[in-house]
Amino acid sequence: MSQLIIKGGRRLHGEVAVQGAKNSVLPILAATLLTSDTVALEGCPRLRDVDASMRILEGLGCSVRWEGNTLTADTSVLHQWEISDILMREMRSSAVFLGAILARCGQAELSYPGGCELGPRPIDLHLAGLRELGAEIEECGGLLHCKASRLRGKEIVLSLPSVGATENLMLAACGAEGVTTIANAAREPEIVDLQEFLNACGARVSGAGSSTVAVEGGRKLHGCTYRVMPDRIATATYLCAAASAGGEVFLRGAREDHLATVTAVLREAGCTLESDPAGIRCACRERPMAVRPVRTAPYPGFPTDAQAILMAALLRNRGTSVFEENIFENRYRHVDELTRMGARIRVSGRTAVVSGVDRLCGAAVRCTDLRGGAALCVAALAAEGETQVSALRHIDRGYENLEQDLKALGADAVRT
Ligand code: UD1
Repeated sequence: MSQLIIKGGRRLHGEVAVQGAKNSVLPILAATLLTSDTVALEGCPRLRDVDASMRILEGLGCSVRWEGNTLTADTSVLHQWEISDILMREMRSSAVFLGAILARCGQAELSYPGGCELGPRPIDLHLAGLRELGAEIEECGGLLHCKASRLRGKEIVLSLPSVGATENLMLAACGAEGVTTIANAAREPEIVDLQEFLNACGARVSGAGSSTVAVEGGRKLHGCTYRVMPDRIATATYLCAAASAGGEVFLRGAREDHLATVTAVLREAGCTLESDPAGIRCACRERPMAVRPVRTAPYPGFPTDAQAILMAALLRNRGTSVFEENIFENRYRHVDELTRMGARIRVSGRTAVVSGVDRLCGAAVRCTDLRGGAALCVAALAAEGETQVSALRHIDRGYENLEQDLKALGADAVRT
């Protein structure tokens, strides 16, 4: 089993180009099914979750190939509308294929995504919205049988702004007759990216980035070449790496407007950040200062995906910093591993209180989930001695090459 060996205590100094956004590319790959044509996605990150999406597309009959970081999908042929249980289990976010397959084929069959390492991962809002568009969905033995001879546009009100439900409904709505509006839609930048991709294929989608997304359905979509937006959580990871280890980094292609809540906390912690159209520069000269409570919330609030990573950067804060996790039930699993490194964190329900320590020490730690795993690496950069991070499969779901990026930033990181 491979491990990432990080020798901490080195200040960072260097530059990396930020990878394309995982959470953009996954729904966009599902959206390619709406085109019956060829789509080239530039700046596509090579990730385990992208591989899983490719296998889903191939399983349906499409052909997909890499050329450098461009992923080309030819979706002209579709043999079937089922996704196997094995593929569904590989990636919890595969539910977003449901809307696209339904729009394309009028039926779909896949297994229920079930729970994941962050806790329950319900898709009730996805299913309720699809039913409102006219889909008949039967849930039986963990399988979802979905049929829709005709989808019809409608006003759908989401009870909470779910990212996946908004995306799934946008895709299904492209195949529905008339106009669909999604109220209380998620406002994440990845939703805007999906809208821009769909419109580049000839769809008429508007409002993404606001709480109401409108889709004029029934248009024939065509292929296109599209560049995926930069990954805001990978950006947050490298900014937090600098805050943890100290030093100065430049993240080429990073967009501060996508992560203003994260950069605001890092400034409060004492880092200096400057951004321009080329990227973000971040300099952190001293141990981080304590920050006001960080509460995760749907965008534009503080992203749950950056919670563990920021916590890792603040383990040596000069005081006490409080986190409140409001999106997922089980998102403090990294805490026990950080504690092994000498962190002082008290968790009570959805709150975690981080009392700053003078020093962290290297330890053998295990990734519990994707961002929790990245958090261990961020902490290791500030720890004395060597940290061995195992269960890297979690990290490989979302980072194209974490250790090379850390090395480019001046860290001593090796995968064995
Ligand atoms: C997406 C991101 C994930 C991020 C999350 C929140 C992708 C591939 N993943 O996940 O990295 O952490 O947004 O920003 O883009 N919920 C329901 N019923 C539903 C759907 C969701 O109760 O039908 C609940 C969830 O349990 C969770 C909350 O809503 O508590 C937010 O989930 P959602 O926004 O749907 O997250 P994902 O799309 O799964």
